[in-house]
Amino acid sequence: MEKQNIKLGLLGFGTVGTGVVRIISAHQEDLQKQTGLGIEITKILVQNAEKSRHISSVDSLVTTDANEILQDPEIEVIVEVIGGIHPAKEYILEALERGKHVVTANKDLMALHGAEILNKAQEKGCDVFYEASVAGGIPILRALVEGFSSDRITKMMGIVNGTTNYILTKMSQEGAEYADVLKEAQALGYAEANPTSDVEGFDAARKMAILATLGFRVPMKLEDVDVKGISEVSKEDIAYGKQLGYEVKLLGLARRDEEAIEVSVQPTLVPKSHPLASVNGVFNAVYVHGEAVGETMFYGPGAGELPTATAVVSDLVTVVKNRKLGVNGRGMVAPYKEKVLKDNSQKLSKYFLRIVVADKRGVLAQITQLLADKNISLEQVIQQPYNNEGEAEIIMVTHISSKSDMDSVLVFMEQMDIVSKVKSCYRVEGGDK
Ligand code: HSE
Repeated sequence: MEKQNIKLGLLGFGTVGTGVVRIISAHQEDLQKQTGLGIEITKILVQNAEKSRHISSVDSLVTTDANEILQDPEIEVIVEVIGGIHPAKEYILEALERGKHVVTANKDLMALHGAEILNKAQEKGCDVFYEASVAGGIPILRALVEGFSSDRITKMMGIVNGTTNYILTKMSQEGAEYADVLKEAQALGYAEANPTSDVEGFDAARKMAILATLGFRVPMKLEDVDVKGISEVSKEDIAYGKQLGYEVKLLGLARRDEEAIEVSVQPTLVPKSHPLASVNGVFNAVYVHGEAVGETMFYGPGAGELPTATAVVSDLVTVVKNRKLGVNGRGMVAPYKEKVLKDNSQKLSKYFLRIVVADKRGVLAQITQLLADKNISLEQVIQQPYNNEGEAEIIMVTHISSKSDMDSVLVFMEQMDIVSKVKSCYRVEGGDK
């Protein structure tokens, strides 16, 4: 006789784990109607069995021994919401080895060891889904894999880190300094005590590596992603950006021209008229351009208990439906395209430049000549007095230039007597190209 319930082991009972328990219990009837089977959480791995929890109804299910879950032949699916690489990776590989399907929210693991995990899953005929790993509650991975399967994606731009978007939004709306907003965000619990992974762009880089792999069907690695965080973005950068018609965002960019690909995370100026410029606070958004469909954008919460848990439980629904159909392990499309990475001469964009110069006759001419020598022309320029010591600040937005040309301009500028400091240089994206 067909079983009535599919048994599930939950690894981790923090914020997302608690959300998974809540959603499964609140939507049990609907889930059963959609899949034909009930989803029954039979064991929950915790670090400390004595700790008091928000949901006491599952107290009897907790264990501190992972083997009780991994070695239980009745458990068909594990949900990993512990996070980090170890021991999550070992638990997942062992579960797959034993023929269990896996749902995980672990972006670090999937960005760094995704290929190994997916290969093991394929070998064992198991499902591995990880929708919650990128942009929390936004169903973007499924959209890339299924919704865009008939199209050719050329560009993805993502605001995929809520912490940095919260900081940049506050800086923009209140004219505040980075360090002050970071402190406030930490006090409110929006930013971690050690904020490095978020503010230096590493968290976003992991998510962009996953998006690029699925969107372009190539095996992107984390080290293929150029990363620069927001810790050097100043309130002046944001104010001048605004004056010129832009907002500053920590933007993940994955772009392909012909077959050559670039993936980066960096502070980027986005025109105020672009929908990404209005993505504020802790919200996430992913803009996807497909050759046939044109522009699309996905917007929503990038983290949080229930949003992230919805992604996890939707993955579970897919596992259960696949099981009903007898097609587990067959839905994955491994990256099948060769990876061709752009060199810096192929990475094209407009740039925002802010430099401090001697306020003397002919200085602006020398700067524009240097740019012209590198084939870079200017779209917008502002000059402002900088201090009482005879210095001025020049703020420019260039027309399209290559990264290699811009890099060599920066090297020359640093050496020029008339330039006392190159304050900032950021890409400008989201215009009409
Ligand atoms: N630290 C992440 C963020 C949480 O700020 O968006 C979700 O991965």
